[in-house]
Amino acid sequence: MNVGIVGCGNISEIYFENLTKVFRQVKVTGCSDLDRERAEEKNRKYGVPVYTTEELMQREDVDIILNLTTPPYHGTIDKMALNSGKHVYSEKPFAMSREEAAEVQTLAAEKGLRTGCAPDTFLGSSFQACRQLIDSGAIGRPLSVFASMNSHGVESWHPNPDFYYKPGGGPMLDMGPYYLTALVSLLGPIQSVQAMTSTGYKERTCSAPSTKGKTISVEVPTHYQGLMRFENGVTGSIVMSFDTWASEMPRIEIHGTEGSLLVPDPNHFGEKVTLMKEGKKVSVKKVFKSTPYKMNSRGAGLADMARGIESGTPHKASGEMAMHVLDVMLAFGEAGESGSVIEIKSTVERPEPLNPGAKKGEF
Ligand SMILES: NC(=O)c1ccc[n+]([C@@H]2O[C@H](COP(=O)([O-])OP(=O)(O)OC[C@H]3O[C@@H](n4cnc5c(N)ncnc54)[C@H](O)[C@@H]3O)[C@@H](O)[C@H]2O)c1
Repeated sequence: MNVGIVGCGNISEIYFENLTKVFRQVKVTGCSDLDRERAEEKNRKYGVPVYTTEELMQREDVDIILNLTTPPYHGTIDKMALNSGKHVYSEKPFAMSREEAAEVQTLAAEKGLRTGCAPDTFLGSSFQACRQLIDSGAIGRPLSVFASMNSHGVESWHPNPDFYYKPGGGPMLDMGPYYLTALVSLLGPIQSVQAMTSTGYKERTCSAPSTKGKTISVEVPTHYQGLMRFENGVTGSIVMSFDTWASEMPRIEIHGTEGSLLVPDPNHFGEKVTLMKEGKKVSVKKVFKSTPYKMNSRGAGLADMARGIESGTPHKASGEMAMHVLDVMLAFGEAGESGSVIEIKSTVERPEPLNPGAKKGEF
């Protein structure tokens, strides 16, 4: 299937790389950016034709729009694509609000088109190995989970950091999708949440070479401490922070009746997984080896969506899952403001795991 990329900023590089070299289900046939020079740069490197976004949406040689714009534009570009008869796959978060996400999903259903959304890191080797282990009973019945992402934000390295501190940004909407999508794919949907939130700094000063000295006013919470209950009864806690200088807290731990899984960074695809049973490490080498995506494989979710469209079967990084994760992330913010327990209204089925033994480029 043919893909048109809208938004040729920081994250687009790895998509251009993987969609032109790894995932043969798709071909990139056009790109656009508000800043045309950014798209021209990709044209020089990958030979992909440059159009305006309006032109790209009308092209017959585009079946799927890959939306790599910043969060405030995700919903608008998705709707524009659907109204032009194109399937859409968006970077996270899926939308800025539940209403916007619902509009996108309703429009897609009316048009008979698919929606998909990053992150697709849950298709990576770490999380597919964990999925096989949990599903095969390696930790018994899952009981509890701990998740944490501690950093000091993005202004020390990101060339365009403003949006991370505006509505649609913050650590929960920025990094929460990796953690929560991974957890939902392993443990199923989340039923209720509680939280406390805070904003450590009213202003951020950039130190990346291209923005050094620039200040950004912070409009969102930058520290979240949350509690969650999954529909299957698992309880857990989560910390998402742009207000910490250093941390030795684990990324994710899942504890069950017969063992514990120590799970690596869900922003990455193929880091080491540790399974502990009765105080002893149990080898997971064979399981890890049976999974294809150990490298940065961003774009796998889109390629799987193309596979799903062509075969008429469900795809894994779906709009439905992204909508549930958005619902949960917004609920953490609301719980932080109100101090109450928020019941999550949406739900979703766990996506099918990858076939063990699938090769790179397969699902
Ligand atoms: N940077 C990362 O490491 C990273 C990682 C994963 C996901 N993401 C997600 O990817 C998205 C983009 O992040 P980024 O870091 O690449 O941001 P960025 O600001 O570097 O790039 C976004 C690009 O989209 C363009 N754009 C914005 N609105 C547009 C519109 N309406 N039409 C056409 N072009 C438009 C901008 O000009 C810019 O070039 C965000 O949602 C972010 O959360 C980023």
